[in-house]
Amino acid sequence: MKIRILLLSLICAAVTLPSVSAAEGKAKTAANDETELGGHMDKMSGAFRKLKRQIADATKNADSLTLVATIKAEAAASAKLAPAWKPEQKEKFQAKMNDFNAKVGKLEMALKAGKNDEAAKIADELGAAQKEGHKEFKKPDEKKK
Ligand code: HEM
Repeated sequence: MKIRILLLSLICAAVTLPSVSAAEGKAKTAANDETELGGHMDKMSGAFRKLKRQIADATKNADSLTLVATIKAEAAASAKLAPAWKPEQKEKFQAKMNDFNAKVGKLEMALKAGKNDEAAKIADELGAAQKEGHKEFKKPDEKKK
């Protein structure tokens, strides 16, 4: 008898468990609406945050240049894509990303020339371009990052 009850509960668990985990899986996909562009942006974000913290420090220029290289590569990849929220504005978005890239190039030159003050100013401009770009092309109800 006891064995039957045990077997019955095992069967019940086997039936319910997969549906529970399936529901969890669904919730994860719904919350995690990551795009290819979002992935490049995330990588750019990590590098840009660190860069801003150390850009004035000339002793860190070698490391800063590796961060700039990451930003440059991620921004270049972004410039080939379209924003998820406004895909019809792909061309305008790509033009803005290319402007952004040109600024990143200037920042790189300033750092290579040891002009950290100038580089810091350009980094502020990049921050402003980020704000503007997000206002224009990124869905407003997305969490601010
Ligand atoms: C330093 C510059 C920038 C940083 C650090 C940055 C960072 C980010 C981050 C963290 C996200 C969220 C990614 C996610 O969903 O996981 C994002 C999304 C986005 N960003 Fe940027 N961003 C920058 C510049 C720009 C510029 C210049 C534009 C437009 C010209 C732009 C357009 C967008 C768009 C459209 C999204 C939403 C993703 C999608 O549509 O698929 N970003 N960005």
